[in-house]
Amino acid sequence: MDLPTIQWTDKGIRIIDQTRLPRSRSYLILKSLSEIEEAIRSLRVRGAPAIGIAAAMGVAWHAGSGPENERERVLSLAREAIECLALTRPTAVNLFWALERMRILLEKVSGQSGPQIIAALRREALEILEEDRRVCRRIGQNGSALIPSRARILTHCNAGSLATADYGTALGVIYAAVEEGKHIEVFADETRPLLQGARLTAWELKERNIPVTLLCDSAAGSLLARGAVDCVITGADRIAANGDTANKVGTYPLSVLARKHGVPFYVAAPLSTVDLSLSSGDVIPIEERSPEEVTHMSGRPVAPEGIDVFNPAFDITPAENISAIITEAGIIRPPFLKGLSTALKQSKRKD
Ligand code: MRU
Repeated sequence: MDLPTIQWTDKGIRIIDQTRLPRSRSYLILKSLSEIEEAIRSLRVRGAPAIGIAAAMGVAWHAGSGPENERERVLSLAREAIECLALTRPTAVNLFWALERMRILLEKVSGQSGPQIIAALRREALEILEEDRRVCRRIGQNGSALIPSRARILTHCNAGSLATADYGTALGVIYAAVEEGKHIEVFADETRPLLQGARLTAWELKERNIPVTLLCDSAAGSLLARGAVDCVITGADRIAANGDTANKVGTYPLSVLARKHGVPFYVAAPLSTVDLSLSSGDVIPIEERSPEEVTHMSGRPVAPEGIDVFNPAFDITPAENISAIITEAGIIRPPFLKGLSTALKQSKRKD
């Protein structure tokens, strides 16, 4: 399936508008910092790696948007974009990881001419995109080793092509297993309130002709209790040093259910999702989103007006519920602190 989530073009940053799927496959060209910011906040582009890529491209685009590419002006536009985009979504660390890469590069090339700085920023953003392509394929290959030749896999939210450059993390494992000739059936949680599972994961899998069954989030317990699931695989937005993992709200209860029923629970994520500066999940910032996401469906009210709402976008799955973390560097088993630190150290040495 040829589905680039995000592309650099001469006219702007081209994204598939994920808020319109599966009704329509429409693309947007983001031409200004405010359009890029809006697209990330409103989930037109979403998923931890994809928002990192979008933010990096946003910095490069905005840096070159001045009337004249004079050095001081380019530097100040790039810094403005980094500051602005860092405020869009707080949980996925890939956003901050990508912005930090852009900031470090900016400092390195700050003595060059305006056009040279813009070109360097664009190269770095495109390298982040290309790296994600390679990394997701390695995650897929590594994770496929955990998947039996016939497997029923439950997933939550969307950690697929749409959440990354073009392949996916949790779904990347499934794609790699299918490419190796394994027979995979997927169960996709609908993922309330914004239905990333129903709208995006189910759509993506159908586009690839992979058998998929959609279920309400609350039906996952019945499915696991029936012995109908061989493993659960999800993506991640931020993994703390001890392995505690932030992912789409509803992932935590799924991990409790998987443990109760003796089903392996895997997290698939690039090392850019690991945040060793946070010792555990308690200190991961959790985004709270608008009450309307819960009180309304397709613009129509489904709850009494003025009702109080609790709408965290993510929750924390404790490390003890995670059987393994699948990364581009290999499969990391508990205790995660050691495995994650070693993998990150080795990947930094390679850079
Ligand atoms: O709010 P979203 O749709 O950006 O949340 C996305 C998720 O929770 C994904 O599972 C996560 O970002 C991993 S994407 C490879």
